[in-house]
Amino acid sequence: MYKRETLGSRLGFILLSAGCAIGLGNVWRFPYIVGKNGGAGFVLIYLIFLILLGLPMMTIEFSIGRGSKQSIGNGLEKLEKQGAKWHLWGPTAIVGNYILIMFYSCIAGWIISYFISSLVGTFDNLDTTDIAKVFSSLTANPLKQTIWMAVAVSISMLVVAIGLEKGVERITKYIMLTLLFIMLLLTIHSLTLSRTAEGLKFYLIPNFKSMKEIGFFTILYEALGQAFFTLSVGIGSMAIFGSYIDDKHSLAGESVRIIALDTFVAITAGIIIFPACFSYDVAPDQGPSLLFITLPNIFSQMKGGRIWASLFFLFMSFAALSTLIAVFENIISYWIDVKKMSRRKACLINYILILVLSLPCILGFNILSSIQPFGEGSNILDLEDFIVSNIMLPLGCLLFVLFVTRKSGWGWDSFLKEANKGEGLKFPSKAKFYVSYIVPILIAIIMAKGILDKLI
Ligand code: ALA
Repeated sequence: MYKRETLGSRLGFILLSAGCAIGLGNVWRFPYIVGKNGGAGFVLIYLIFLILLGLPMMTIEFSIGRGSKQSIGNGLEKLEKQGAKWHLWGPTAIVGNYILIMFYSCIAGWIISYFISSLVGTFDNLDTTDIAKVFSSLTANPLKQTIWMAVAVSISMLVVAIGLEKGVERITKYIMLTLLFIMLLLTIHSLTLSRTAEGLKFYLIPNFKSMKEIGFFTILYEALGQAFFTLSVGIGSMAIFGSYIDDKHSLAGESVRIIALDTFVAITAGIIIFPACFSYDVAPDQGPSLLFITLPNIFSQMKGGRIWASLFFLFMSFAALSTLIAVFENIISYWIDVKKMSRRKACLINYILILVLSLPCILGFNILSSIQPFGEGSNILDLEDFIVSNIMLPLGCLLFVLFVTRKSGWGWDSFLKEANKGEGLKFPSKAKFYVSYIVPILIAIIMAKGILDKLI
């Protein structure tokens, strides 16, 4: 008889979930969004959102996973009351995972290519214009990009194909521990740069005047989107790991640990990046190009820059790969749990599917660059990112929160019982009103405003 796989250890579960959370969101998106939104004030709001919304959401996702022991694809169906329609979100959430991968694999490819380029010294002695050219020639070349994307997808899918415990859990554990070690080296180095203090001031002391200029609501909205993106909540990519664990530990306690790790990496990424920007006179509010143009430029001026750049992009590659592996596992588990396919076959079919699905994002920078969904200069990546980060993740969170608090769904008591099984921090039963009404209203208002702003 078919026996569903489970994880081998608690550390494996925590590092795997943290690996899913820790990714480009922490080391690429977070620093540039902080830069764009005025620095420390944004960080403060983001941290508040993590506690007020991220923590309940992650606990809810893990509970749905552990309660159903299934992929999100049919987990909701297993838990809902008969005749209810919550389960329609299951396959939709899996589609969300595919859309995430469609651009994530492309950026992961760029990062791996940057790691190799740094290692072989491509950026040595280049000036800003030449470094910008390296990036534009990469994005202008569909074949080059496809090869790097395929490298990222192949490594990640291979890990998933090896199996849950021997592949996904074991390899992610090594990746995450190495990532944390490299991060430590980079942080120590960054703290010794010439204008470290100014960089840290921008990053850690709120400037309310600049927050007012940017607009309080914009900052709230960006902080919420970032909180959901970094925790990958809303599309079941956390729920899957809940479905692989036993009842020994309470889920709010596990969520706190994972969110703390994720936040630690995001904040530290800023500590690595902002002092470098200030020390080399580069504005920290550059947007996405921060990683691919600004930083290589900084490294090329730095003493021992080649080593630091290689370490930095290796760190980034690990962050991206750990997320790809986790999201692939979620997709593959759908095919195993719902479609009853073998792991190997599911990996093979999805490997080809994902290679093909990642092409529109790549082509959006060259052959399909006339497709500019949000006006001049925007591209297919922006569209895919918007669909996932600003629509599917918050919408999924909204549905999950309603699912666990409404009688036609799982219901508050069943959720609480599951979340609080085992030792550790208990989810407070007194939070019922807050989770039932305040959380959904907050998510709905901020999400609606963000979508309207983008589309009008
Ligand atoms: N949680 C993933 C990240 O932060 C998607 O990159």
